[in-house]
Amino acid sequence: MSETIQLRIPGPTPLPEAVREATGRQMINHRGPEFARILSETVAGVRALLQTTHDVLLLSCSGSGGMEAAVVNLCSPGDEVIAAHAGVFGERFAAIADAYGLTIHHVSAPDGEALDPARIGEAFAAHPRAKTLFLTHNESSTGVTHDLRAIAETAHHHGALIAADCITSTAALNVPLDEWGIDVAVSASQKAWMAPPGLAMVAVSPRAWERTQTAALPRFYFDFAKYREAQAKGQTPATPTLPTLTGLHRALQMLIAEGLPAIIARHRAAAETCRADIGDLAERELRLFADPAHASDTITAVALPEGMDAARLLARLRDEYGVILAGGLGRQAGTIIRIGHLGHVTAADMDAVGAALRAVLETSPPGPLSFAAGQRRGGATSGR
Ligand SMILES: Cc1ncc(COP(=O)(O)O)c(C=O)c1O
Repeated sequence: MSETIQLRIPGPTPLPEAVREATGRQMINHRGPEFARILSETVAGVRALLQTTHDVLLLSCSGSGGMEAAVVNLCSPGDEVIAAHAGVFGERFAAIADAYGLTIHHVSAPDGEALDPARIGEAFAAHPRAKTLFLTHNESSTGVTHDLRAIAETAHHHGALIAADCITSTAALNVPLDEWGIDVAVSASQKAWMAPPGLAMVAVSPRAWERTQTAALPRFYFDFAKYREAQAKGQTPATPTLPTLTGLHRALQMLIAEGLPAIIARHRAAAETCRADIGDLAERELRLFADPAHASDTITAVALPEGMDAARLLARLRDEYGVILAGGLGRQAGTIIRIGHLGHVTAADMDAVGAALRAVLETSPPGPLSFAAGQRRGGATSGR
């Protein structure tokens, strides 16, 4: 991409120029006809990329708000639920359920590995009162994509609903929500959708709507029914994040024109390039963190050699090459770095990231990455 700065974190992701322009337009009446048109076109576009005919609700909040909405609309006080996780974001879903006092049965896998659908099945068998499963599809903290299709089959086999955080999988990977039977799927505008933060998209299946009728957890701002009712009138229950909506509306025009198969192929190519570039740095002791069989096509986590200072590595990439990557989260803070390749990204962008990484590592003395005294800033920063 043309910008000098390479923002390659797992979101927010860079905005195409046309999307930036759309986010900067004058405010409009959110109870007027133009808003109704933009809202309905945006919902239709999101629905197409989510491969669903179900209701898609646009909530003005970040992705975590969409996850909280899934919990409060599906569950009742005293409910038992299964939370499956292998990283920070899956654990967040469990933490939200915990905040509402639900009884949680955890199924986990080590960081970097994928969840085993059979173990989720065992948890349902052991806890037959649990009728809801919460999990994150693409674990951004480890760069692992779980087998959502098999996990959904398991949940349905046990008569449970499945609510999936698809925040960093949708609009990038193939996630056919209806075909896989995902009851509530949550995404967020600042990820592969090439839009700013501010909107959570939530797809709700007919079975999930049925559950909302009896779900008795307290809810107000996140009440799905309020969104469905308002959207039917071309409105939202409260003032929406208008700049994000106009940006997403514009981004969807670009994404729909590209087409989902091409979007998926582009993300696959960027991911493969990223993984190959990291593989080429094996002599520098960088290692792909995720189990290769489940490596994500939107985020690559890279394990650093013992003693390498992750913060310094990230600072040098930023200051000398304008390449912004993310650090590890939670247990992996300081041990891994994470490269986002979702949204407005191509394989060539990943080669630029790989080249910057190589250059930084080659100008570091062996052992812990450190700044040599008086080290000059590289030319790539000039004019930025
Ligand atoms: C997989 C996943 N789930 C949930 C979230 C939380 O989303 P937000 O920060 O938009 O609340 C993120 C954000 O990085 C994520 O990557």
